[in-house]
Amino acid sequence: MTKYNFSSRVPLTNDNPFGEVLTVASKPSIVSFAGGLPAPELFPVKEIKAAAEAVLDEYGQTVLQYSVAQGNLHLRQLIAKYMKTRGLDDDPQNMLITTGSQQGLDVIAEMMINPGDKVISERPTYLSALDVFKTYGAETVGVDVDEHGMKMDDLEATLKQNPETKLVYVVPNFQNPTGNSMSLDRRKRLVELADEYDVLVVEDDPYGAIRYAGESIPPIRSLDHNGRVIYTGTFSKILAPGLRLGWASAAPELIAKMLLLKQFEDVHTDNLTQFVIARYMETYDMQAHIDHITAEYEKRGEAMHAAIQKYFPAGTELTHPEGGMFLWVKLPGNPDIDQIFDECIQNNVAFVPGAPFFPNHPETNTMRMNFSNRSVAEIEAGIKTMGAVISKMI
Ligand SMILES: Cc1ncc(COP(=O)(O)O)c(C=O)c1O
Repeated sequence: MTKYNFSSRVPLTNDNPFGEVLTVASKPSIVSFAGGLPAPELFPVKEIKAAAEAVLDEYGQTVLQYSVAQGNLHLRQLIAKYMKTRGLDDDPQNMLITTGSQQGLDVIAEMMINPGDKVISERPTYLSALDVFKTYGAETVGVDVDEHGMKMDDLEATLKQNPETKLVYVVPNFQNPTGNSMSLDRRKRLVELADEYDVLVVEDDPYGAIRYAGESIPPIRSLDHNGRVIYTGTFSKILAPGLRLGWASAAPELIAKMLLLKQFEDVHTDNLTQFVIARYMETYDMQAHIDHITAEYEKRGEAMHAAIQKYFPAGTELTHPEGGMFLWVKLPGNPDIDQIFDECIQNNVAFVPGAPFFPNHPETNTMRMNFSNRSVAEIEAGIKTMGAVISKMI
């Protein structure tokens, strides 16, 4: 048997506990609150089909040809116009089209991280960002969050203790996994601290457009005057994740490096998809579509919040998000979450245990709950079942 001489980046084992949870949870019989899936019945299938037909009819030879790594200029202009409505006035030249925002995170990590560097993230944070930082040899140090996002005094202390820090990674809107958002004051302080401690901020914002309550808060990048904030955006949650289309915007020097690294990775993002999304954005009212999704997610999020309060045992803590796709639950005491998971699966309902979302010191009584992918009726029934299982087991 050949013994392969893998690089040091490759994980030593093929353990994939999160993937296993999602595989078990994806059985059709199971009402799953586990994944991070948008509602497929809300995908604009007809409109995307019409846009695809139109661009193939009009520019078939161009859209099937190789293109430039930075991405289609017309699409970048349309994204810049859309981002202005979200409070970020960016030049399309400072923008790079990526294959989902996941690729944006990968390219940023590749650009900045040497083995032994540190990344600071919220604690808990988006699991797959932790995987990316680890792959490039970084240690991620978590900073605690509350309902207003990352605690800035703790961040300052952590920056002082970890001078090897290159990046501070945050998901400031309806964070994955907690559903909470970072306040404006903390966003301003984050930019000040980035200047003071000479680090970059990665502002990962897949959920910011899906706000159903409260006031929208300006993007961190809009508060930055020294080119320290890299913004990553995506069409995954506002149109459809299978399109794999995202973007990053940052200072020109950073975009120039990211462009090269992206080109080495995949030459450029799928050209047909870029044309289709540009055509979609020009032809249809994308904001009306986002408003429609948001209204539906509000019903689902509120239904899940109310059902957890009703059916989970006394002492359960949960977040109350103003948008996005997730809420976060802390069970009382010291429950065996894996056993609860198995028992829930036996009862045809699933969630994700919260521990893998912690870069360090996992809190094993936590769970991430996704509300976007199930109807209100399924949410009410599924949470009732979960509540009965949990109450029986703790
Ligand atoms: C916080 C966060 N960042 C990035 C992504 C990746 O999204 P995509 O690559 O589909 O744009 C996700 C997906 O769930 C996410 O939750």
